[in-house]
Amino acid sequence: MSDQPICVTQPYLPPLEEFTPYLEKIWANKILTNGGPFHQQFEQALCNHLGVPHVALLSNGTLSLITALQALRVTGEVITTPYSFVATAHALLWHGCEPVFVDVEPRTLNLDPARIEAAITPRTTAIMPVHCYGNPCDTAAIRKIADDYKLRVIYDAAHAFAVQDEGGSVLRHGDLSVLSFHATKVFNTFEGGAIICPDAETKQRIDHLKNFGFVDETTVVVPGINAKMSEINAAFGLLQLQHMPGVMRRRAEIDARYRQQLQGIEGIHCLPQAGQRSANHAYFPVLVQPGYPLGRDALYQKLKDRGIHARRYFYPLIPDFPMYRHLPSADRANLPVATHAAAQVLCLPIYPALTDEQQERIVGVIVEAAA
Ligand SMILES: Cc1ncc(COP(=O)(O)O)c(C=O)c1O
Repeated sequence: MSDQPICVTQPYLPPLEEFTPYLEKIWANKILTNGGPFHQQFEQALCNHLGVPHVALLSNGTLSLITALQALRVTGEVITTPYSFVATAHALLWHGCEPVFVDVEPRTLNLDPARIEAAITPRTTAIMPVHCYGNPCDTAAIRKIADDYKLRVIYDAAHAFAVQDEGGSVLRHGDLSVLSFHATKVFNTFEGGAIICPDAETKQRIDHLKNFGFVDETTVVVPGINAKMSEINAAFGLLQLQHMPGVMRRRAEIDARYRQQLQGIEGIHCLPQAGQRSANHAYFPVLVQPGYPLGRDALYQKLKDRGIHARRYFYPLIPDFPMYRHLPSADRANLPVATHAAAQVLCLPIYPALTDEQQERIVGVIVEAAA
């Protein structure tokens, strides 16, 4: 048992018997998708849980990003972060936009507002920042730039489920915010995603876009796509919401133990939590810096040899992938902070079922290598 492999994450699943009644309802009513009863209930439950006015459910986070771009009719160049999961930039390419990478700031590894203005050109229409690891971006500074230059802001909030800043849900910022409910996320519906909308009109446009543009049986108003969330995913989401308090509590405990146990190890820098009134502890990123006897990749390998699968999120940087390399903004000289972080970062396992004993095994390897 004690040498079982430990992955960076493990999806949270409620007891199977709790899901059975939901399945029985679906089997009885034969409504599998197209905005059925669970879909409607889940949208409302999410609004309440997250403290936001309108939620549109979609089939995953990537289609939510693309649909958000469609909804706001974004064109041309979009300023974004190089330090994210590749879907952030891929969504821009799928929508026919050019990503313009701007470096991150060292404390949170989020898009650095101080560098945004220099990247704005007459073709810039929007900014797509990411609340990386659930740490909120500098939303006030981004808002100011967006207002000054009349740019749209779509937050990729895939990591920021239930995160709150001093003013409430972090998802209220920007023109739209996008969530992912992928299996690896703090809150999962197997696959799933959502767009947080400020008003009913925008939600309605998104609801049309995600359903081929249909308004009624015979009317199609936009060239929409199929990005609907199914009833089974929505039902599962409803059930998952009930378990979130316990999930969040356990994540917070694991986070606090890592911080306490890794404290004082030279060259191991735990990324601070910044700007949250309520965090979700989605990831536990550390930077392996000079002073630690092993480099990041050597520590990654040492953990792996002991069955501990930490992940180098985010390495390689998005601009290093072949479809982005040619872009002027992909030049490494333009991205020193992100480049450094990608070379040093290691995300340690964190998920509700991780035991204290497993966590001690993980910390033990890091401490042993430092001795
Ligand atoms: C920052 C970020 N953006 C977008 C996505 C895409 O979400 P999905 O996998 O639900 O399509 C993910 C995760 O998968 C992510 O981490």
